[in-house]
Amino acid sequence: MTTERLQKFLSQAGVASRRAAEEIIRAGRVMVNGQVVTEMGVKVDPDRDIVRVDGRPVKVTAAPVVLMLHKPSGYVCTTSDPQGRRVVMELLSRVPVRLYPVGRLDYDATGLLLFTNDGELAYRLTHPSYHVPRTYRVTVTGEMTREAVRRLAAGVDLDGRLVYPEVRVNKREAAKTVLEVTVHEGRYHLVKRLMEQVGHPVLKLKRIAFGPLRLERLNRGTYRELTEREVAALKAEVELA
Ligand code: URA
Repeated sequence: MTTERLQKFLSQAGVASRRAAEEIIRAGRVMVNGQVVTEMGVKVDPDRDIVRVDGRPVKVTAAPVVLMLHKPSGYVCTTSDPQGRRVVMELLSRVPVRLYPVGRLDYDATGLLLFTNDGELAYRLTHPSYHVPRTYRVTVTGEMTREAVRRLAAGVDLDGRLVYPEVRVNKREAAKTVLEVTVHEGRYHLVKRLMEQVGHPVLKLKRIAFGPLRLERLNRGTYRELTEREVAALKAEVELA
């Protein structure tokens, strides 16, 4: 018989991150074998105990899965869209397990997007305290000066917090500049807002790396499962052994 802590069980079942699972337990929403559990140290046997959240049974049915998708433009990263736009989940319709996107890319952005059913891994990869680097290939309007690059690197105040992007210029033309930009968090429209601050609105945005992973030659609209080595590297990035 192998038992594990209730909050770990809930995060492995994809209900929430461990921390959010603790809130759900504290709120009295979890029952183990018909009894409401609100304290933390409780252990469950996934093969024998019946765990319910809000009355619905929860099971760890699938082994943890992590996929990388090359997101095309024209898809939203929510599971459904009130405006009826296409959602990234449509691109994973053949995957037999329920997965969730790790963070978001804008509707018009492309590139590397991860999906997993491991709630704790998803939580850590998106939480700003883990500082996971994301690199974007960004095309902006106009010829970006060295001074603008320096201003970005010196730190830009967004929502009262400084962001320090690493910026490399790949191509400079009169009408547009192509950059590689690395940031260590995933705030709403982060790169677009940074570029607007220095007067160069974004024309194109593609995420080419996330933590230790690179998109490389994955075709647009397709996905692949990460190798064991890639999963291990991703977990090491967020201190998950
Ligand atoms: N920054 C943005 O502005 N948009 C994205 O989709 C990702 C990073």
